[in-house]
Amino acid sequence: EKEVEGRRKGERVPHVLVFPFPAVGHVNCMLRLAQLLCLSDLRVTFLHTEYNYDRLRRNPEHVDYFRHWPSFKYRTISDGLPMESPRSAKDLEELWMSMTARTKPLLREMLSSDAGGTEEVTCIIADGILSFAADVGRELGIPTIAFRTVSVCSFWSYFCAPQLVEAGELPFQEDADLDCPIQGVPGMETFLRRRDLSSFLRGKELYSPATAFVLNETQKNAKASALIFNTFEDLEGPILSHVRALRSTIYTIGPLHALIRSKLHEQYPHQSKSFPPKFGTGLCEEDGSYLQWLDSKPPKSVVYVSFGSLTIVTRDELLEFWHGLVNSGKFFLWVIRPDMVSGDGILEDVIPAGLEEGTKERGLMLGWVSQEQVLGHDAVGGFLTHSGWNSTLESIVAGVPMVCWPYFADQQINSRFADEVWGIGLDIKDKGDRRTVEQSVRDLIENKNERLRQSADRMAMLARKAVAKGGSSYDSFDRLIQSIKAAS
Ligand code: UDX
Repeated sequence: EKEVEGRRKGERVPHVLVFPFPAVGHVNCMLRLAQLLCLSDLRVTFLHTEYNYDRLRRNPEHVDYFRHWPSFKYRTISDGLPMESPRSAKDLEELWMSMTARTKPLLREMLSSDAGGTEEVTCIIADGILSFAADVGRELGIPTIAFRTVSVCSFWSYFCAPQLVEAGELPFQEDADLDCPIQGVPGMETFLRRRDLSSFLRGKELYSPATAFVLNETQKNAKASALIFNTFEDLEGPILSHVRALRSTIYTIGPLHALIRSKLHEQYPHQSKSFPPKFGTGLCEEDGSYLQWLDSKPPKSVVYVSFGSLTIVTRDELLEFWHGLVNSGKFFLWVIRPDMVSGDGILEDVIPAGLEEGTKERGLMLGWVSQEQVLGHDAVGGFLTHSGWNSTLESIVAGVPMVCWPYFADQQINSRFADEVWGIGLDIKDKGDRRTVEQSVRDLIENKNERLRQSADRMAMLARKAVAKGGSSYDSFDRLIQSIKAAS
């Protein structure tokens, strides 16, 4: 109604195009942002790749959920690859290249043919690793804001990588002393080691096309007219102050999943506590029945294990985790995605010799769950995680301390911060052997490290404060909305 009224008066109605990189961890938080924009009376088109939209359509519950959001709509664009091409973690580089070469002209065509009509886009919020969308926005005179889905600490370390090369701190060999300090990232001089730098900066990875791509996109973000981070001031304030010196307007509006809840409760105060209903990206099929299993366990007795949507482990690595979990003697709920284990002869429901009893008694293994719900369950006392940024924020909000086993990209530095700076995690990077897993899971669930639980409680409280009315993320989000409306 507001839109029709606005048009009648000749006003341009703000219409935001939200465009994520097509991986679950990116779609997840940008979909949360899209909902927040709708809650602020903006019209939103969420641009999915045809490949992802095809996966989504197989999930009618998800499609149904968005029928309740009249100002939201999905639209699709080709990622340039044939539908049958693989798009797993190993293939991300090809996907990036393809999108830059082939999706860019399609986007230009789409936006210019919409100009002046009812579908005209007045603002683009594009994934910070799809800077071609900002190029198109600039060409067509559409204000574009970059959204980086990673932590600010990770962003800042990528941004400083050229300085590290200049100072001779990079490159280093894969077999060099990984505990050697890194001095060239301002704000991290006292605790950063080689092993905490992104996997993209280690050894010969530094010269890979993927690294060149990420570093290049990061430099471009610094020149974007505005930059959004899914973080909050009390978590990353000190590093943010360095990024702020780069001129861009910066919005820190996280944790987004908590900000949605805060805004919804404000707008619909009489809804039940379980409102809004759980929802994910709709891209992965969820296994049922785990909530009943969790209900039957004592408070804080279960370790939840998940390595996100992209991690691929070898069969040997998986078995080390399995032994460690069973030997810890604790209950475990473990997400093992169907595409998570590399090589042939995957587990096929076969419990390795010697692990039958412990697995049956204490373990539950599933292909995908609603992670927010699991982390919010009273029975969950710890999270063995790969330190993806969404997972880290979800754990923070739930006040669940972590054991961190980072896999790649931003995760190496997230886990260092979780342990050394925020005190909410035990960083076991580069050590996934059964003894380390067993010991750290025990320490976590038996609450051997008093500092962990206290820091997790404190950080959860600060996250809630940030998204509540008058909090830093709440206010930053309102400023973002004002600027989008003003530019329309
Ligand atoms: C990756 C990066 O590591 C991350 O830091 C970056 O911001 C996006 O790309 P991913 O490895 O998938 O993402 O990890 P993460 O950021 O933790 O995202 C995974 C998401 O999947 C989380 O929001 C989590 O709640 C969800 N998830 C995971 C489920 O809903 N169910 C599951 O069973 C497992």
